[in-house]
Amino acid sequence: MKHHGAGALREPYTRSVGTHIDTELVRIDPVHPDPGLIARAADYIRRGLLVAFPTETVYGLGADALSEAAVDRIFVAKGRDPSDPLIVHIGDLAGIERVAIDVPEAARGLVEAFWPGALTLVLERAEGVAPAVSAGRTTVAVRMPSHPVARQLIEAAGVPVAAPSANRFMRTSATTAQHVVEDLDGRVELILDGGPASAGIESTVIDATGPALRLLRPGAVTIEEIRRRVGVKVLVDSQHSGASPGMLARHYAPSTRLRLVGGDEQALAGAVEEETWQGHRVGVLCTDGEAAAFDRKVVVERLGTELEEVARDLYAAIRRLDAAGLDVIVVRDYGEEGLGRAIHDRLRRAATPLA
Ligand code: TXA
Ligand code: MG
Repeated sequence: MKHHGAGALREPYTRSVGTHIDTELVRIDPVHPDPGLIARAADYIRRGLLVAFPTETVYGLGADALSEAAVDRIFVAKGRDPSDPLIVHIGDLAGIERVAIDVPEAARGLVEAFWPGALTLVLERAEGVAPAVSAGRTTVAVRMPSHPVARQLIEAAGVPVAAPSANRFMRTSATTAQHVVEDLDGRVELILDGGPASAGIESTVIDATGPALRLLRPGAVTIEEIRRRVGVKVLVDSQHSGASPGMLARHYAPSTRLRLVGGDEQALAGAVEEETWQGHRVGVLCTDGEAAAFDRKVVVERLGTELEEVARDLYAAIRRLDAAGLDVIVVRDYGEEGLGRAIHDRLRRAATPLA
């Protein structure tokens, strides 16, 4: 891999071994991105190459959404099942015309309230979008991110950008450029390092193609917030609220066994004690307040106090614990209110054993 500071674009840092793409890692200012660097990354997109970039939710693995060949490369790089469709990112509202046929009345309030931001809408697909994006469906998932690097990259590219989360299949989404490097070094042309993602959990996916809005994936925008700001009800029709294609029972999973504990702090402490008694090396993910209950034999990852903080650091903490040589990671369920719903969804999947 080549690693560059924003000022030294041509200085190689390291070179990866045994991989076929020479991945470049470049630092970029997340608030005022260097226009020259944005132009170069946009040129990569237009040439059908793969560019990983920061968004406000998680890092995305981007390619030209109008090019079937470019989109195919995303599936190869991630090891993603071609039946799992991708989200197309637009830079401004006008960009929607090239992606979707129209925004139905029911979804307009959502667009006004939450774009740019962490909300993805499933709409009827426009002609020009590469069919691979939608994995054979007539619909397309669309989002306008708010992160300046993402917005400016898409606008400079002049094409909509298909981008799933920038992780390998079955891994937790990448919330830092270092996570992207771990998963995709040697598989993508360019990684823009804009620092850690602020939300840390993926966008909320809502199907707006039917008569009612339906939640397909809980995410950074809560259904309570949608109700409060737009006054519409979003149907949560499957009991697991994971109706998106590709939302496998096991997903976002560390290779270490993850034990999800229902109940309060005492239940968490009890589960940790039980695992320790069995001779297991135990890691625990918990809030700051819960951390005092554990002794030094247990590896503790503190996630802050608010659900926003838990969401922001969850994937990074899971990756750290997964690399710590443990037998089990124990985590408490924080319920399904507000952001808890998305956190619960990801933890439940991560705790599902391999079939
Ligand atoms: O926050 C995010 O959404 C990040 C950033 C990079 O934007 N992207 C992301 O993409 O999480 P990905 O590919 O990891 O997840 C996309 C989700 C999947 O659950 C997929 O099944 C669903 O969106 N999806 C995509 N197109 C769809 C469609 N046409 N109909 C229903 N669900 C769709
Ligand atoms: Mg993903």
